Amino acid sequence: MRAHPAGPRHGDVLTPHALPYRPQGGDRDLDASIWPITASRTPSGEIEIGGCRVSDLVAEFGSPLFVIDERDFRSRAAAFKAAYDVPEMPADVYYAAKAFLATTIARWVDEEGLGIDVSTGGEMLVALQAGVDPQRILFHGNNKSVSEIDRAVSVGIGRIVVDSLTEIDRVSVAAVAHGRDVEVLVRVTVGVEAHTHEYIATAHEDQKFGLSLAGGAANTAIERVLAAPGLRLKGLHSHIGSQIFDAAGFEVAAARVVGLAAHIRSEHQIVVDELNLGGGMGIAYVPNDDPLDVKDMATSIRDIVRDACSRVDLPIPRLAFEPGRAIVGPSGITVYEVGTVKDVALGHDQERQYVSVDGGMSDNIRTALYDADYTVVPATRASSAESVISRVVGKHCESGDIVVRDAWLPADLHPGDLLAVAATGAYCRSMASQYNYLPRPGVVAVQNGNASVVLRRESDDDLIRLDPGAQRSSEQIWMAAANEGGAR
Ligand SMILES: Cc1ncc(COP(=O)(O)O)c(C=O)c1O
Repeated sequence: MRAHPAGPRHGDVLTPHALPYRPQGGDRDLDASIWPITASRTPSGEIEIGGCRVSDLVAEFGSPLFVIDERDFRSRAAAFKAAYDVPEMPADVYYAAKAFLATTIARWVDEEGLGIDVSTGGEMLVALQAGVDPQRILFHGNNKSVSEIDRAVSVGIGRIVVDSLTEIDRVSVAAVAHGRDVEVLVRVTVGVEAHTHEYIATAHEDQKFGLSLAGGAANTAIERVLAAPGLRLKGLHSHIGSQIFDAAGFEVAAARVVGLAAHIRSEHQIVVDELNLGGGMGIAYVPNDDPLDVKDMATSIRDIVRDACSRVDLPIPRLAFEPGRAIVGPSGITVYEVGTVKDVALGHDQERQYVSVDGGMSDNIRTALYDADYTVVPATRASSAESVISRVVGKHCESGDIVVRDAWLPADLHPGDLLAVAATGAYCRSMASQYNYLPRPGVVAVQNGNASVVLRRESDDDLIRLDPGAQRSSEQIWMAAANEGGAR
């Protein structure tokens, strides 16, 4: 049974794994629904993105390398803003920083008119460093520390989404200490889990986020916010899942949150201003993935909210959304260098080509964590060799260190070839680790033939920087060890 991009809890509702689509006529064509908008193949078969050849990028910035197509990112961010923030139903669109954040990204997001949703003081720091107005930052998290809350309040953060009664008290203390009124949203667990084309409505949510509607915790939290000095109940928040392909899950969620808003009106004579329906809009990782178009999804959600509000005779609140994956996911690719290729017998006269690359689960944990699917192709050359069923694996000491579980790749792949994996912009570099002391890859932005560093590649010195026992530079350590080795 497969796990799901939204987490292993979703595993029981997924179909068993099937072999991927086998490209007809080789892998020359880059499926426009999966690859960044400026990605194309040169006549010799090399992938060019943002006007830059991947081999040139790797020569300059090393491998593995994340490459982000600036035009793709900006156009998706602008499309979200245009689709969701319309005059008849204005909305705020916050980019979910957890998908991937660096100052360059925060600046693009800001320039395209989106706010930023952060979940930690660290993400807030990056957004502030990029010059984002704190009023356009929304602060999430189920365990914000006292000092994170204090900082958020002191800089005048736009919204805090409260996730527990303890936190309501902490935000109130900080608000009073700084003499500010803090606008808060209460994160409500509505008992809906949505993903791809399915959703499940349940009575309770056995999970760490939010305050349960069914269990009464949401009501208690609202009363606590209304009574707390320095807090203003700005609205309600609900996030129902990830990799959502249609609006069905939002229907139940919106009806339940709007029902709560109606209850707040009758109980407390307060009309909440804002309804934040979270993120989770899905993207295509492989050709079979078929997410709803941005505009169609926005229109469906608006219809849902309009209907839900009219049923309880509530004015339509200002809406807010928090897409992450759907903006940065398709804009980014990862380029790896092939290190070894070996054929492994599977029995029944079948073989699988194992292709080991120079990264792995430390730069893309999603395959190991969620059994995620990806599309991978040779990046620098066309091949006329037959394609064989292959698995792209990393260099870590784990057999679950798989980047792409099943792919058709040419049988003549060899060490030194470059591979490109599509749709790795979200939740790859942001979840990257230094497992096995592997430096985390660099990230470059490409546009009009220019490449600029978004995050530089880590060096050997970065790997030992935090270890007080490593008092020399990596170069000195290597040299001294080689001298001692030579003398032995
Ligand atoms: C509260 C909240 N908002 C937004 C997001 C962004 O989701 P996605 O990147 O799938 O759009 C998440 C992801 O987990 C989330 O938890």
